[in-house]
Amino acid sequence: MRKVNVPLGARSYEIHIAAGLLPWIGKACARLKLGARCAVVSDDEVAPRYAAAVQQSLRAAGFDSFLITVPHGEPAKRLQMAQRCFDELAEHRLERNSFILALGGGVVGDLAGFLAATYLRGLAFVQVPTTLLAQVDSSVGGKVGINLKAGKNLVGAFHQPRQVFCDLSALDTLPEREFRAGMAEVIKYGIIYDAQLFARLERDLPKLMRRDRANLGAVIARCCEIKAEVVGQDETESGLRAILNFGHTIGHAIEATAGYGKYLHGEAIAIGQVAAAHISCAVLGMREAEANRLEDLLAKTGLPTRIRLDARRRQQLLAAMKLDKKVSGGEVKFVLAKKIGAVETGHEVPREIIEHALAK
Ligand code: NAD
Ligand code: GLY
Repeated sequence: MRKVNVPLGARSYEIHIAAGLLPWIGKACARLKLGARCAVVSDDEVAPRYAAAVQQSLRAAGFDSFLITVPHGEPAKRLQMAQRCFDELAEHRLERNSFILALGGGVVGDLAGFLAATYLRGLAFVQVPTTLLAQVDSSVGGKVGINLKAGKNLVGAFHQPRQVFCDLSALDTLPEREFRAGMAEVIKYGIIYDAQLFARLERDLPKLMRRDRANLGAVIARCCEIKAEVVGQDETESGLRAILNFGHTIGHAIEATAGYGKYLHGEAIAIGQVAAAHISCAVLGMREAEANRLEDLLAKTGLPTRIRLDARRRQQLLAAMKLDKKVSGGEVKFVLAKKIGAVETGHEVPREIIEHALAK
């Protein structure tokens, strides 16, 4: 088993990464000295596959759990769904020392974390991410929240989990398209932080795409280490943590203007990363050859790297970037790469350069 520590003083926690972790979760939770009552929050794709194993493991360790199942997909991150879940937590008489366990992808993790951050002014929270994206990104770092009509993740909190369990076996049933979308975030870690990781991804891509556990476990652990280092230095995104948003300024705008659901998050940020790399060549002198390596790797992963935009869609996209919640003082700030493995935050980019990158 691989372990990664997220260093946050008294709120530090461990990420456990291995195949076959689910039956072990109850014992591990018992070591955290959590109360006996537990709500397992999952979705209707994940719960039928994995909830019984998790609940059995909790029961064997003396916990009394009940299951809340929400419909799969982004609409579960709505206020109405949170309301329904709050009612269920109240019906089952969750108490201040009870805890919530998120079993699912980023949608379930964000929703369950939001419930945990707010119900009874805060309950302990355990993450059991079952998508690649959730294992390398959303389950670590404590960002939890739900969506409004006005935009994604507009209501939320920073609420760190007490422990994260990444079971590699759960990835076996993840649909191919979701797996590829998770790889976009994996590749992002190479660009923003670790040129060696990037080179490893180029070398081992076929094994990773076959979900070879030894390779996948090592790569997921490295991504978690990077996220842990970043979050440990800047938990609430006042500086360094913004590097995690490489490719997201344009990616979020693509998701919003294409209509949520057309592109998966990872697909949109794959296109966003390629655009950000082209902007980086123009603004920071990143070498074209390095931008091409990024585009090649994303394309070999089976991700989209370009989007066809007419003039009207291009204007819509530029307008959507200004609505992103990361905009400050009305200015869109970009994370740009100097080279593979090194990025800078806070770049204001002239509109012509953005338009030029989008025209590509
Ligand atoms: P998701 O949670 O919607 O999961 C994708 C699909 O895969 C769903 O249909 C789900 O039911 C299914 N699924 C999950 N695990 C499965 C498994 N093991 N086997 C079979 N099917 C499985 O999507 P996601 O990509 O994991 O997460 C996206 C969400 O994460 C977005 O809402 C995004 O805003 C959020 N996010 C949050 C953070 C953060 O820091 N909190 C970071 C990145 C993304
Ligand atoms: N996914 C970006 C962050 O956690 O900050």
